[in-house]
Amino acid sequence: MTMRVISTIDAVRQAVREARSKSLTIGLVPTMGALHAGHVSLIQAARQETGYVVVSIFVNPTQFGPSEDLERYPRPLEKDLENCGKQGVDMVFIPDGATMYPEGYRTFVEVEELQDVLCGAARPGHFRGVATVVLKLFNIVQPDVAFFGQKDAQQARIIRQLVNDLNVGVRLQVCPIIREPDGLAMSSRNQYLDATQRKQAPALFLALEELRGRVQKGERDARILREVLAARIASTPGAALDYAVIVDCNTLKPISKLNGEVLVALAVKFGSTRLIDNLILTV
Ligand code: PAJ
Repeated sequence: MTMRVISTIDAVRQAVREARSKSLTIGLVPTMGALHAGHVSLIQAARQETGYVVVSIFVNPTQFGPSEDLERYPRPLEKDLENCGKQGVDMVFIPDGATMYPEGYRTFVEVEELQDVLCGAARPGHFRGVATVVLKLFNIVQPDVAFFGQKDAQQARIIRQLVNDLNVGVRLQVCPIIREPDGLAMSSRNQYLDATQRKQAPALFLALEELRGRVQKGERDARILREVLAARIASTPGAALDYAVIVDCNTLKPISKLNGEVLVALAVKFGSTRLIDNLILTV
């Protein structure tokens, strides 16, 4: 089957209707493009588990703050389409801004509390934009299954909350973090790093691995473990710690003793480039 590239909502609905009439299940992989191996892993999971795979590419303006990188966010469309073609994607949905947010647009989704912590604290309004666009994409495509990456742990948690709270009939699948050979989590923003920063960027992963080792040896005190992360980043040239936290996977609230499912999350700035990484531990 040839891949369809669609930019209008009506055409998406029509194509999805046709797929459903052939009894195919619908998989959706929402992205902002500049596809890398992390995105590809989601597409492959979708290809494996659903009969009709939709990838959306939309650099969503409502999730960018006024001083963030909306304008310079990479948009290698040709390459992305080629990549989707290779992965056997059935439809790429590429709406423009006015299709998603026509003049007079007024409705936004907020996931209280979960949206305000971790990355939400440094990026006010970010998760409101994410929740809104993801719900819109769910309503446009009406997938059976939607695929997200653990790389954006807070985003995945917020979308799960949104789906539960608003009774959205979509099953979520969260896929593991894909990394460069040196441990750096794949991200479209890695290309902003200069050569020196790129060399230091695996510090996030190394800090998380150091923490994992300490937990394996029996350390359970979150304050001490948090120090392990902070110290590792402090000793990395060019790196500035935004946050290092150990929180409950469900509430995203800080914990003092490790117990059950915990999320260890890091955000570090190299110049103006902000990188995130995380680790889920079951203690
Ligand atoms: P984007 O950053 O393009 O990421 C799209 C999806 O790819 C997200 O679910 C993200 O978690 C996943 N992803 C990114 N890097 C990954 C990696 N190294 N390993 C595994 N998965 C990875 O996240 C967004 O876009 C947007 O906020 C979006 C959900 C599309 C809403 O606009």
